[in-house]
Amino acid sequence: AEAELGGYPHYMLKEIFDQPEAIRNAMRGRLDLEEATAKLGGLNMNPHQLLRIQRIVIVGCGTARHAGIVGEYLIESLAHLPVEVDYASEFRYRNAPLDGETVVFAVSQSGETADTLAAVREAKRKGMRVLGICNQVGSTIARETEGGVYMHAGPEIGVAATKSFTSQVLVFLLLAVLLGRLRYLSARQGKKLIEAIEKLPDQVTSVLSRHKEIRAIAEKYADAEAMLFLGRQFQYGIALEGALKMKEITYIRAEGHPAAELKHGVIALVDERIPSIFLCPQDGVYDKNVSNIAEVKARRGPVIAIASEGDDRIGKLADDVFLIPQCSELLAPILTVVPLQLLAYYTALSLGRDIDKPRNLAKSVTVE
Ligand code: G6P
Repeated sequence: AEAELGGYPHYMLKEIFDQPEAIRNAMRGRLDLEEATAKLGGLNMNPHQLLRIQRIVIVGCGTARHAGIVGEYLIESLAHLPVEVDYASEFRYRNAPLDGETVVFAVSQSGETADTLAAVREAKRKGMRVLGICNQVGSTIARETEGGVYMHAGPEIGVAATKSFTSQVLVFLLLAVLLGRLRYLSARQGKKLIEAIEKLPDQVTSVLSRHKEIRAIAEKYADAEAMLFLGRQFQYGIALEGALKMKEITYIRAEGHPAAELKHGVIALVDERIPSIFLCPQDGVYDKNVSNIAEVKARRGPVIAIASEGDDRIGKLADDVFLIPQCSELLAPILTVVPLQLLAYYTALSLGRDIDKPRNLAKSVTVE
C-alpha cells in the first residue's frame, strides 16, 4: 500500500495531487479541435439522436450529485437544454414524469451505489434512455446503462471523493460542448472552449503548487465552530462540495448555499467564530458576491475568498484570499474546488482526524 501512496501521507492528498493527470485522462482523445467539438463515442448516440434530446435528468449521490449540479449550469448555458438534477434516492421514489425525449445520466464514481442503481432501473423501466458517467470500468451501473462516459480518473481510495469530482465536471463540460455544438454554439466559440479546456491540467498544477497558502489558512481557522460555503451559478455546486468535503473529514459543521440565500436565513449564523468561504472568481456574478461579502463583514464574520488572479479589490474586503488562474467562468469550478479540497484536508490534518477513513462513512454505499 505504501508504494501506491507514492510518498504521500494519505490517499486523499495523493488523489488531490493526481488531478492534473486525472483530468488529462478524462479529456484524452475526446477533444476535436478541427470540428471544434467534443467526441463522446461511448454515449452510443449519433448526432441525429443527440439533437432529439429535449431534456436531461441527472441523478447521483453525494459528490457525484454536486458534479451534476455544475453540469446542469454548463449544459443549460452551452446547449440551452433544460436540465434537472436530483438525489438518486429521491428520484427512485418520486414517480417523476418523463417522456421519450428525456435522457437520464447516472453519475457514480464506483458505479455500485445502491440508490443510483435503483434510479437507473426505475428510469429504464419507464422506457428512458439511461447513460452512465462512471469511473469503475465494468461496474454494475456501467453495465446496466445503454452507454456513457468513463471518467478514467484511476482508482480513488480516500473516502472523500476528490479526483472523481473534477473528472465528472470535466465530462459534463465535454458533454455541454458536444450538445452545444449541435445547437447554439458556433465553431469559433467551440474552438475557444476546447483550447481553454486543454489548459486546465497545467492550471490545476499551478493551484496545487501553492498548497502552502491553503495550509496556512486551514491552520488559522481549524478551531472554527462551523463554516459557510457560498457560491453562485457555476460556483453553487462547488459551495456544496466544499462544505461536504469539510464535514466529511473534519466533522466541523459546514453548510453550502447559494450566496444570495444568505439573507434568507443563513446570515443569522454569522459571527466571529464562523468563517464564510466565498467562491468569487471573475465571472458574471462577481459584483453580487462582493456585496454579500460586505454583508458578512458588517456582521464581523471572517471571510476567506477564492478569487481570480488580477483581482485587486478582494484583498481589501476579505480576511484571507486564494487566487486561481484566470479562466472562463465555465471552467472555473475545476480550479476553485481544488483549494477547498486542500482546505478540508489541512484542517483535518491539524485536528488529527483519520483522513482516509472518516468515522461513519463508506467509500461506496451499496445498501439503501
Ligand atoms: C459515498 C461516498 C461519497 C460519494 C457517494 C457516491 O457517500 O462516501 O464520497 O460521493 O457515496 O458514490 P458514487 O460511487 O456513486 O460516486
